[in-house]
Amino acid sequence: MRRSVLVTGATSGVGLGVALRLAGAGFDVFATARDEPKAEKLRAVAAECAVGLRTVLLDVADADSCRRACAEVAEATGGGPWALVNNAGVPLVGAVEDLEDAAVRQLLEVNVVGAARMARLVLPGMRERGEGRIVNVSSLAGRIAAPGMGWYCAGKAALGALNDALRMEAGPGGVRVAIVEAGAYASAIQGRAADGLAALAGRPTLFGDMYRVAEAALRESGTRLPSAEPVVSAVCRALIARRPRHRYVVGRQAKAGLLADVLVPVRVKDHFKRAAMGAPGAHPAVEYAARRWCTPW
Ligand SMILES: NC(=O)c1ccc[n+]([C@@H]2O[C@H](COP(=O)([O-])OP(=O)(O)OC[C@H]3O[C@@H](n4cnc5c(N)ncnc54)[C@H](OP(=O)(O)O)[C@@H]3O)[C@@H](O)[C@H]2O)c1
Repeated sequence: MRRSVLVTGATSGVGLGVALRLAGAGFDVFATARDEPKAEKLRAVAAECAVGLRTVLLDVADADSCRRACAEVAEATGGGPWALVNNAGVPLVGAVEDLEDAAVRQLLEVNVVGAARMARLVLPGMRERGEGRIVNVSSLAGRIAAPGMGWYCAGKAALGALNDALRMEAGPGGVRVAIVEAGAYASAIQGRAADGLAALAGRPTLFGDMYRVAEAALRESGTRLPSAEPVVSAVCRALIARRPRHRYVVGRQAKAGLLADVLVPVRVKDHFKRAAMGAPGAHPAVEYAARRWCTPW
């Protein structure tokens, strides 16, 4: 029997790549979209690529939508998917003091609560079958915080903690849980982040220059950042490998960032990150190097 995989947020970027790659590799893919027009587009892209997949409507921030989607997949698969890829995610850029509760709650609802809820809904079926996999798509931002990225980083850090707890809780039931931590890759997420920053424009803030630098960099980063293929490959490896790793760190930027995070003193790191992000308080001498090598976009 073909192994079934539920991929959340499959209308673009990493999720779309994973859904198409897995469908091409023979998995029974349930790819989620937030509304029917997006689902139709997703089926058309799959048809163009000559792969078959099924679409399911899902908004991970909506508990009823999650229940409906999981019930639909459980019925189609006779008990639920063999694997879940918690990929759906949204960006949020802005200084901690500039972001309103509503924006923060929406970020956490999608990037943290939604992912945990989806895991909770599919786990009983996996336990009953005695096997299953859950792959959480996270980011270097979950391990390393930066100015202007506090809430996005907090959400991914929370996802990392939940991933680790879930790995220990679900492992004895035969469910393998893995996390993919990626550096920056070109996708629709940069444009969405830039749109969020544009919405902050005009409000009195200490961080106006940082927002202008970040928005401009985000708008043109699609042409500069590498393709998200390595992230797609890592997610697929976590599903295809007989013995998947617990953690996949994707990209030289992410690996170098983690190493530097251990080796470099906090005061130096803070300075570099301020400069990289265009935040106030950075020394101009480090600005060029920091923007060249350390900016996340
Ligand atoms: N690109 C990077 O540099 C990078 C790096 C590290 C980690 N990541 C993570 O990788 C994952 C995928 O991001 P991406 O780069 O592929 O971005 P993307 O192209 O913007 O894709 C995000 C996907 O999530 C979906 N989504 C957003 N809100 C949702 C909700 N409430 N319910 C269900 N689906 C929702 C989007 O659907 P709609 O089209 O309907 O909005 C879209 O399909 C995210 O978790 C992101 O944090 C990305």
